[in-house]
Amino acid sequence: MNISMNPNGELYQSAVNAPGTIEIPESFLNEARQFRELNMRYTCAIREVKTKLEVLNDDLAIRNQRNPIQMIKSRVKKPESIIEKLHRRGFPISVKSVRENLYDVAGIRVICSFVDDIYTVAEMLARQDDINVLMVKDYIRCPKVNGYRSYHMIIEVPVFFSDRKENMRVEVQIRTIAMDFWASLDHQMKYKKDVEDASEISEELKECAEVIAQTDLKMLSLRRKIEDRESKENL
Ligand code: GTP
Ligand code: MG
Repeated sequence: MNISMNPNGELYQSAVNAPGTIEIPESFLNEARQFRELNMRYTCAIREVKTKLEVLNDDLAIRNQRNPIQMIKSRVKKPESIIEKLHRRGFPISVKSVRENLYDVAGIRVICSFVDDIYTVAEMLARQDDINVLMVKDYIRCPKVNGYRSYHMIIEVPVFFSDRKENMRVEVQIRTIAMDFWASLDHQMKYKKDVEDASEISEELKECAEVIAQTDLKMLSLRRKIEDRESKENL
């Protein structure tokens, strides 16, 4: 069978090549198709986990009269980043290798209001009987040397496709608005300039992370004071 691409870039299969089309090797098309399918499967896994988080947020909002989750962001890792990471870690570059060796192709970032909300959401997610927690990195209790704080979970969630059930891995990063503020700017600045080695700048960035962490704790204690007052008034 001939598989061709017309000048508009549309792929089609035909017994004979249409005039003016480029022939594409079947092996390439096969890999491309598999990559598209992989992307779809991770997108679906993200949708499943996002729904679980939205349900938790809605339920907790009614119970506590405030939203523990401010925002949920998500992304599927781009093919170029997938290939770069496989190469960097010395893994073969194939769809099979992505499934076996990468944990962060599907990524969800949960931005919480307060530090305790992070642990509430993480525990409630981990307790669900169709979720399997593969790994936890608590960069809040143990911040990275540069000051980075966030709660990371690698989870596995079953997704029911047309032909089979597949356990898909998803990386969930849970942090407060304040932690996200620091991490976003840290990320932006690192991409612009190589500040990794500039120790003075690194120190200042770390100081900012610590000030932000203090503010997070202060906000939490303020919320608790308000809640205490409210509960005394209701006695
Ligand atoms: P990656 O190869 O980057 O995925 O790192 P890893 O497999 O060692 O995992 P880790 O849990 O340390 O980091 C995973 C993700 O957390 C990164 O892709 C970033 O999104 C985020 N992250 C980790 N460290 C930092 C940091 O110092 N600054 C910022 N802005 N983000 C970070
Ligand atoms: Mg990553």
